[in-house]
Amino acid sequence: MNAVVFAFPGCEPLADVLAARLSALRGELVLHRFPDEESYVRLSTPVDGRAVVLACSLDRADAKLLPLAFAAEAARELGAASVGIVAPYLGYLRQDARFRAGEAITSATFAKIVSEFADWLVTVDPHLHRYRGLEEIYALRASVVRAAPAIARWIRDNVSEPVIIGPDAESEQWAAEIARRAGAACVVLNKIRRGDFEVEVSVPTVGDFGSQTAVLVDDIISSGRTMIAAVRELLNSGARAPVCVGVHPVFSGDAYAALAASGAARIVTCNTIAHPSNAIDLNEALAAAVEEIVGEVFATAGSR
Ligand code: R5P
Repeated sequence: MNAVVFAFPGCEPLADVLAARLSALRGELVLHRFPDEESYVRLSTPVDGRAVVLACSLDRADAKLLPLAFAAEAARELGAASVGIVAPYLGYLRQDARFRAGEAITSATFAKIVSEFADWLVTVDPHLHRYRGLEEIYALRASVVRAAPAIARWIRDNVSEPVIIGPDAESEQWAAEIARRAGAACVVLNKIRRGDFEVEVSVPTVGDFGSQTAVLVDDIISSGRTMIAAVRELLNSGARAPVCVGVHPVFSGDAYAALAASGAARIVTCNTIAHPSNAIDLNEALAAAVEEIVGEVFATAGSR
């Protein structure tokens, strides 16, 4: 394919897999921060006539969005046939409503900005709660890779007698599918969030887990407080030390250390954000989705 793949920091392994799958060039992207904290961006590999793929996971998005926009815009100006973003983690989806008067609905504004500079987007399990799909807020072609098949495979291979636990109602969409694929039962806990770091979780009466191992699964682990509260409640209810599985290991501040100290038997994540806990690979699945979307973009351009 006449494509070129550029990696933002942390996404180099993904970019290598994408370039191999697309038989594309692996482009060189130069990023620099000036002393005044403004960004310098240079695409050192020619993009003229090529499909440009920017691999950039959008955690810590405040710092990444501008350099990404600069790179995408430069690619367009330099004659790229199309510009797409592969963001295994797509940030800014949790504020999907105005919960209090005057609040900014950041998910919608963020989507509007990304849609301005990109033609397509591939991501993994976006945190969609009140939105039915990304197309409600993103005005571009979007494709979603599901983590459930890879997570279910990992659980089947690594956990004997698993019972899948979703820590809150929002996690049910992931927990139920993983449980079905892993051939395990699924229990969803009740959560009340009182603040960024204040989370209460209660375990419904489900009886004794016996010899089963509880596997907590959630899409995002950010402050880690949801997982920590769930681990503690499970231990209090007599369960064995649970395994924690997260799709998106945001792990802000002390989250990882605090979760590790909470009594979890193991913490395992997908590689949507580079982290030592990454044990479940989604790069090949992302590459398959990108191959399809870039193929469509070329077919559409050729039929014009
Ligand atoms: C919430 O709706 C999500 O599914 C996660 O449960 C949440 O984002 C986890 O956040 P934290 O790690 O900060 O508790």
